[in-house]
Amino acid sequence: MIRSKIVATGSGIPEKVVTNFDLEKIVDTSDEWISQRTGIKERRVVIDETAADLATTAANEIIEKSGIDPLDIDMIIVSTCSPDYLTPNVACVVQNNIGAKNAACVDVSAACAGFTFALSVADKYVISGAKKCVLVLASEIISKFTNWEDRSTCVLFGDAAGGVLLVPEENDEGGLICEEIGSKGEGWEVLGNGGLPISNAFNGHEKIKPEDTYVFMDGREVFKFATGKLRESIDNVLEMAKMDKEEVTWVVPHQANIRIIEVVAKKVGIPMDKFYLNIERFGNTSSASIPVALNEMAEKGLLKKGDNIVLSGFGGGLCWGTILVKWC
Ligand code: COA
Repeated sequence: MIRSKIVATGSGIPEKVVTNFDLEKIVDTSDEWISQRTGIKERRVVIDETAADLATTAANEIIEKSGIDPLDIDMIIVSTCSPDYLTPNVACVVQNNIGAKNAACVDVSAACAGFTFALSVADKYVISGAKKCVLVLASEIISKFTNWEDRSTCVLFGDAAGGVLLVPEENDEGGLICEEIGSKGEGWEVLGNGGLPISNAFNGHEKIKPEDTYVFMDGREVFKFATGKLRESIDNVLEMAKMDKEEVTWVVPHQANIRIIEVVAKKVGIPMDKFYLNIERFGNTSSASIPVALNEMAEKGLLKKGDNIVLSGFGGGLCWGTILVKWC
């Protein structure tokens, strides 16, 4: 049986660190409020880098670690909800930057759940045999869509990119085992960014203002959705795999809020020390949070052959995705 296997990870992290104390100088907030309500202490923010720049850094790291020739990459999928342009997609710019001339390039948009969706799409190409070497990236520069005067949202997010290289695994040693992805469009107004009102020569509407594109969020609704759905989705995937929760080595959750993760851990019945956390240092980097965490884990030597790793994300749309990976 052919499965998709992750052969390398990488990330692209902006250098600029913005601490909670830095935010105290911009908006009416405090390190205490942010730390207690979210678990975030600092985040990274781009200065001049683009989403494509961060994704390219992650891609180059993956190329270096895997030793792959960029010409062998036959597909690039980038998850982003904060792209540089509506078109061209981020993936095409990355393709040009890394010289992956033989790749088909597409972006996937499922907000903070986007990496799980991108991985799911890539997996289908790999297991069908249609593609043999797929670069799956997530790159987000939410700071570009942030209203830096709105304390209820600007303290939450950070910028980053991460990704993996996916190839076929034919020896039944592991890889992507099973998944659940899903969406609940009736909740589309609960969380989003980048809204562009219709403004053209015929309707007399005002020109688009920067505030039209800002992040919007009903924090309490998101909290309720996330804690309920992640639990359900992790349970469903473990049931599909006929796996007991005791067999799970790691859960790599979307790093949105430590309190969401704590509630999910309790509901699912997996101890918190199996949840990999880096939210304190990066905040919510949207769809980049899972691959950035995975890359840190790989670099720390935490991922061992045979480990059962649950990747689980949620976000605007509303969307969610959980993927079980047996590391090999
Ligand atoms: N600093 C200080 N005070 C703040 C603040 C900030 N950054 N942001 C909001 N507040 C204030 C509010 O104005 C409110 O004040 P009031 O009681 O005087 O009206 C108070 O804190 C409580 O606000 P509330 O929104 O009820 O807080 P909360 O406990 O629900 O926490 C979130 C807010 C955003 C941390 C929480 O709802 C959450 O994490 N939701 C999920 C968000 C998320 O993960 N989004 C991304 C998903 S991908």
